[in-house]
Amino acid sequence: AGSGIVVVGSINADLVVTADRHPRPGETVAGRSMTVLPGGKGANQAVAAALLGAEVALVGAVGADAYADVALSLLTTAGVDLRAVRRTDGATGLAVIQVAGDGENTIVVLPGANAGMTPDLVAASAGTIRAAGVVVVQGELPADTTAAAVRLATGRVIVNLAPVIALDRAALLRADPLVVNEHEGALVLERFGHPVAADHPGVVEGLLGLGFASVVMTLGGAGALVADGGGLHRVPAPQVAVVDTTGAGDAFVGALAARLVTGEPLDDAVRYAVRVGSYAVRRPGAQPSYPTPADALPAAPRA
Ligand code: RIB
Ligand code: NA
Repeated sequence: AGSGIVVVGSINADLVVTADRHPRPGETVAGRSMTVLPGGKGANQAVAAALLGAEVALVGAVGADAYADVALSLLTTAGVDLRAVRRTDGATGLAVIQVAGDGENTIVVLPGANAGMTPDLVAASAGTIRAAGVVVVQGELPADTTAAAVRLATGRVIVNLAPVIALDRAALLRADPLVVNEHEGALVLERFGHPVAADHPGVVEGLLGLGFASVVMTLGGAGALVADGGGLHRVPAPQVAVVDTTGAGDAFVGALAARLVTGEPLDDAVRYAVRVGSYAVRRPGAQPSYPTPADALPAAPRA
């Protein structure tokens, strides 16, 4: 395994509408703005890691429409290797995102070209995946495709199970770490017929019990829980004014990959990634809100 990161994942265009608050079902509210931004969890994570200085390649697909150019725009600027990104006939993945005044979002995703990512297309990039020091996958490509990517990896594997997909157990357990939020973590336990503890540390302990080498649970403004053979503890997040939480989890995962690929211990990498995630929520959009090393990250709170 080498010194680079390979992300095997989704690429979308994000249609972002802002409004003071989210409409309730059946309700109409006035919006404030509409922007089309590059997104997709895989692309977001690749951009986040590359902006922080990592060498990153992305394996994925876009369509033949005009959204493809938007979707690839910041990947290109950030210097992500896109030789393993296919342009297929149909539509580019599209996310319709509503952001309310408190920064919280709702997202409906149309997979488009992401759904056409087959295990064969991943196999066509086998050399790239095998050579990676860190391979990153999420839950926005078909499960068998994601499993195929994990199986090819010889380096460290980060599985961000967002959303939760039916990865087979052997592939899932290659995760080191598994990165989930509280809901995703509980869903994974349910899927394997394991009792779900009422508190977050209990859910993380349950996940470790399934056989993961390490687990990171992201808790938004409350930071993250980190657990491996050495125990479980919480990493607090800087307190920041929230503008838009879209893709903050992806900024976290990208930063985590950028640090783990250098050989940094998991705990230190999570401390850094939490600060990068906090940086991203202070600005609109996903990728446009990610930092470079020239940007000052919010300071970690005293423990
Ligand atoms: O995690 C945020 C991302 O989820 C957005 O960029 C959107 O494209 C969806 O995939
Ligand atoms: Na943001």
